[in-house]
Order: sequence, then structure tokens, then C-alpha cells
Amino acid sequence: MKVTFAFQFNKMIVDPKITPIPKLHGYLLGAIGPRPIAFASTIDKDGNPNLSPFSFFNVFSANPPIAIFSPARRGRDNTTKHTYENVKAHGEVVINVVTHAMVEQMSLSSTEYPLGTNEFTKSGFTPLESTLVKPFRVKESPVQFECKVKEVVELGTEGGAGNLVICEVVLIHVDEAVLDESGKIDQTKIDLVGRMGGNFYVRAHGEALFEVAKPLQSMGIGVDQIPIDIRTSSTLTGNNLGQLGNVESLPNETDVNDFKLTELADIFVELEDDVIALEKKLHEKAKEYLSEGKVDEAWKTLLSFND
Ligand SMILES: Cc1cc2nc3c(=O)[nH]c(=O)nc-3n(C[C@H](O)[C@H](O)[C@H](O)COP(=O)(O)O)c2cc1C
Repeated sequence: MKVTFAFQFNKMIVDPKITPIPKLHGYLLGAIGPRPIAFASTIDKDGNPNLSPFSFFNVFSANPPIAIFSPARRGRDNTTKHTYENVKAHGEVVINVVTHAMVEQMSLSSTEYPLGTNEFTKSGFTPLESTLVKPFRVKESPVQFECKVKEVVELGTEGGAGNLVICEVVLIHVDEAVLDESGKIDQTKIDLVGRMGGNFYVRAHGEALFEVAKPLQSMGIGVDQIPIDIRTSSTLTGNNLGQLGNVESLPNETDVNDFKLTELADIFVELEDDVIALEKKLHEKAKEYLSEGKVDEAWKTLLSFND
């Protein structure tokens, strides 16, 4: 009997060559996520509309603007999907993004309806004429990408094989409701959903959204330049070290001292006789500053220990 799993240092090892495809599919989809969803609108050779979601999807280039999604061969019976056949017959597609308000109807549209079924009608979405391509846009979607298919790359001939539909975006429609004052897409307004493993989705909304300062704006010192006693702290996490390593330089001694006298005096008075507790307390205080995005204050707190 073939062994599909083995354990090595607390990790289950999965060898794709000997793992049944449905199981392998589960590991790939359960770990690679959240995945954006291309709600792909196509037409068949007779001009009938088709609408289906695909989470094997992303953007790969801005110049030229290229998005790729993959209607795979069915694992069940190795047949191909209507969307794949449609883009082969008529090389145009509209990729509509999926918001939380659309998720149930979008899911309904993924039902395996017979060829020629109009999933706009089945799922209750409103078709809108496109400007440069034949397939309809989905009115309820706040961003619609009109695309010309550049190439379809078949990755295999067996069930489960992907078919990469390489799309060049020729026109983008963005709903005013998701824009900020400067005309950019406001991430707190667009309310996108992503696909996870099994029946799980995520909603990019509220507390699920957070910002990370771009390292490209400055040349961070790097985690390796953080003093060893801070780098090996049992209080600070990997995320904390990433934040600390993203500064261009450390605060100078005068600033650290001023901060110590004004902001940390209580801690130093309270724990002046217990160096170990003092260091721990300062690391906790720095962690608190980091959770509020106050990296400079965190550095001054950490450096005040040896000051
Ligand atoms: C959120 C979501 C994402 C999906 N992603 C994919 C995918 O990336 N590739 C795929 O082949 N099927 C995917 N499916 C299943 C297809 O949508 C489904 O097979 C659909 O019926 C295909 O329709 P068609 O035959 O009209 O093209 C997904 C379904 C859902 C609900």
C-alpha cells in the first residue's frame, strides 16, 4: 500500500506524486488563500451569456495589464468548463470583482447548469453592456475589467488540470462609491471577499483590514541590526522585530534620555531594584507602542534600558 503521509519535525509531508487529487486539491486550497475571485462573464459561440466564479485568479502585470484565471478540468469526469470553452471560441471576458453583498448570488452562479444556461438570470445579477468587448458586465460589481484573451495555456490533460486564461485588461469601470477623494480605490469601502479552503470565505472589512508601512519608502536597518538582547526578547514577536527593523536609524541618546525622563519615569521608579522585571516591563511597553504603530516610541523605550 502506498503511503501518502509521513511526519517530519511536526510537519506532515505530502508528496503530490502519490496523493489522490481530491486530497491534494484540499491541501493546496486550504493553505493558499485567501484567494481573490474573478467573476468571469463570457459568451458562447452562439452569443449566449455565461457567468462563473474562479478563485484561481490574480493580477500579474501592470504594463501590459494582465490578469490570469483558471477554469480547470473537472476532477470528477475530466470534462472542461463552459467558461474555458467560451474563451477558446470567443477570446473575450469581463472579470468582475466580488463584494460581500454579492457572495451568495455569486455562489449560486457556480452551480453546474447545462450548456447555454444564462447564469445572470439564474443568480439574479443584472447584465450591463460592455464598451469594447461582447460579454456583459455585472452591474452589482463595483469594478469590472473588460479583457481580451491573449492566450490559453493548458497545464495538463487529466482531471484537475488548470487552464490559464491570460487576459489583457482593455478597459476598467470603477464605481464612484468605492473611490476616495483622490480617485483611488478606498480599501475600507470596496468590501471584497476572498475564497479559502472548504466552504470558507473572508471579508476584507472592519478589523480584518490593517496597514503595514511599506519598507521601500526607507532603507530599514533590518532585524540583524537590532541589538541582541532586544532581538532575542521573549516578549517581542516576529512582527514586532519586522517593525523595529524597518527604521532607517535608531533614535539618538539625548532623545532616548528625554523620553525616559518624561514617559518612562514611573516604570523606572517602580522597578529600580529589579533589573529583570524592569527589562520585561520595558519590552511589554514597547510592544504596546508597536501595536499602535508608534515605532519611534518603541525604540526609545527599548533603548532606555541600557541608557
Ligand atoms: C468562489 C468560487 C471559486 C471557484 N473557483 C474555481 C476555479 O478557480 N477554477 C475552477 O475550475 N472552478 C472554480 N469554481 C467552480 C466553478 O465556478 C464551477 O465549476 C462553475 O460551474 C463553472 O461554470 P462554467 O462551466 O459555466 O464555466 C469556483 C466556485 C466558487 C463558488
